[in-house]
Amino acid sequence: MNNPALARYPATRLRRPRMAGWSRRLFAEARLGPDDFIWAIILIEGQNVREPIAAMPGVCRLSIDEAVKAAKHAVSLGIPALALFPYTDANDRTPKGEEALNPDNLMCRAARAIKDAVPEIGLMADVALDPYTDHGHDGLLQDGEILNDQTIDILVQQAIIEAQAGFDIIAPSDMMDGRIGAIRNGLDAKGLHNVQIMAYAAKYASAFYGPYREAIGSAGVLKGDKRTYQMDPANSDEALREVAMDLAEGADSIMIKPGMPYLDIIRRVKDAFQAPTFAFQVSGEYAMIKAAAQNGWLDGERAMIESLISFKRAGANGIVTYFAAEAAEALQR
Ligand code: PBG
Repeated sequence: MNNPALARYPATRLRRPRMAGWSRRLFAEARLGPDDFIWAIILIEGQNVREPIAAMPGVCRLSIDEAVKAAKHAVSLGIPALALFPYTDANDRTPKGEEALNPDNLMCRAARAIKDAVPEIGLMADVALDPYTDHGHDGLLQDGEILNDQTIDILVQQAIIEAQAGFDIIAPSDMMDGRIGAIRNGLDAKGLHNVQIMAYAAKYASAFYGPYREAIGSAGVLKGDKRTYQMDPANSDEALREVAMDLAEGADSIMIKPGMPYLDIIRRVKDAFQAPTFAFQVSGEYAMIKAAAQNGWLDGERAMIESLISFKRAGANGIVTYFAAEAAEALQR
């Protein structure tokens, strides 16, 4: 590249290394393997429950015993960690989402059961109030405003009970200003200094979360939208400021979300900070690939692998994805 004269046809033929499979493998710049995945799993109350999610073909809400089986399956595939999210029925939601602070809530019971049965797996917990509020927002709602600082006080408590239940990574997805520093202090004050924080640092107000809101029971519930706290899809410089603040407040790793429409953000963030950077391939991205594949409009397996390796090429260290097990199985073949 420094000397373009060296790269002149016909001495240089860029097709030459593409001619054989062995050579394409040697020349591959990005690699994808099970180590790259955090498997996103939706929990539901009950026993032996695998409840299909209509907008996410192939993904089921899992009761705790089924989630334990999934954890064992993940270990057998070489997947290092699971990210858990709880489904909450509309009737069990409250204005302030108090269930988030119940040490025996679905998330905490699942963490204890999984850690008991499969201690070697990493467990990531979402921190935000949206699975528990009757308005579907990630924070406290007062007179149409999402309260920042009052929400943080609750998120700190939520993070502590999740960490005490056995979660290894606390992943605040709420986008309140200042929550990473507050959560770090709160964890440290309880002696939980080895519990990691993965900040959903640049999280955009996205239509691609649609299927997830069905999955956790927020779909019919959400009042308005999340644009006063999640980022404007038009913005890129602002993502760097979000990431800088979260790293300064003590985040061990940062996440960009959604994934594929924001590959440019992943690259900028990786180049600017060289910090552990993760992508969330969200529910709508999963649904698009599955729906097109079900219609015979594209090759689902190839599209899945291509979408996942694009994150690695863009600079991500790993990917939170609903495809984790399916992709790990495909890569084994
Ligand atoms: C909420 C949260 C969302 C997701 C993870 N945590 C949705 C939202 O902000 O409305 C989305 C995950 C997905 O779409 O797969 N705190």
